[in-house]
Amino acid sequence: MTADEKSRAALFLDLASDYLLDGYRRPRARVVFEDSAAPLSPAGTAALTGEGGPETRRKADGQVRTGPDAGTGENGDSRTPAPPDDNADTLEKVAEEVRRCDMCRLCETRTRGVPGEGAASPLALVVGEAPGADEDASGRPFVGKAGQLLDRMLASIGLSRQKNCFIANVVKCRPPGNRDPMPDEIVFCGRFLRRQIELLKPKAILCAGRISAQTMLRTSTGIGKLRGRFAPYRAEGDLDGFAPDNPDGAIPLLPTYHPSALLRDEGYKRPAWEDLKALRAKLAELDADYARETAGQ
Ligand code: URA
Repeated sequence: MTADEKSRAALFLDLASDYLLDGYRRPRARVVFEDSAAPLSPAGTAALTGEGGPETRRKADGQVRTGPDAGTGENGDSRTPAPPDDNADTLEKVAEEVRRCDMCRLCETRTRGVPGEGAASPLALVVGEAPGADEDASGRPFVGKAGQLLDRMLASIGLSRQKNCFIANVVKCRPPGNRDPMPDEIVFCGRFLRRQIELLKPKAILCAGRISAQTMLRTSTGIGKLRGRFAPYRAEGDLDGFAPDNPDGAIPLLPTYHPSALLRDEGYKRPAWEDLKALRAKLAELDADYARETAGQ
């Protein structure tokens, strides 16, 4: 078994036991398997484990090292050299892994995995729920009717996936019949989204709809209460229940209604527009160029 296969098997067993016992992922020690020739990059490692806490490294030969001296070498540990650059995580690596992912049942019914698309250093990351039929067929996020509305909404505040926005989903493969994603599917896919966020480093995150907002904020509060108010998203660990004390890592996250909801019920349009204006104001605080471009809008 390669280190990657071992990591996947270990992750699967952890998730399966958490799901059967409680339905939610518990924090665990960080576990890293290594092939002697090809150590995992820190980014890839963090993505697979997604957790803070004491770090445990399992070598391919079964050796286990635990504790502060079990790092990758960046902190001066001469026993384990820092990995070469070509091990660095990239958006394309994430996308490739999404396309060939078979970690959950959704791979059996999807046509294409939908990693997401847009600017590599975006002002805003938009996180939707999961691909629908059009996205499943094309491999691109938000390209159906809801997606076209989303594009118009973003354009109204100077954002587009071509220029300054990245669009992704919590779950990367279409749930059959557009049912809600299941908790284990969300957990499996969470590592992809987490890696994307670490790579993209968006200035703000817009969560479209209940599933996205509840997942990112780890809450069961309804979207009617969550929408319109910024909450801090901390790049590492939130999806797994960690909320590091250091607020510096926080990205402002704004939940709003899903564009499909606006298509179903016109009444959601006004509050959604209020939310977009709040996002525009926040981005203008954070980025002088955007502030200039959108001044007077
Ligand atoms: N709805 C979503 O949440 N995401 C898509 O990509 C398309 C529709």
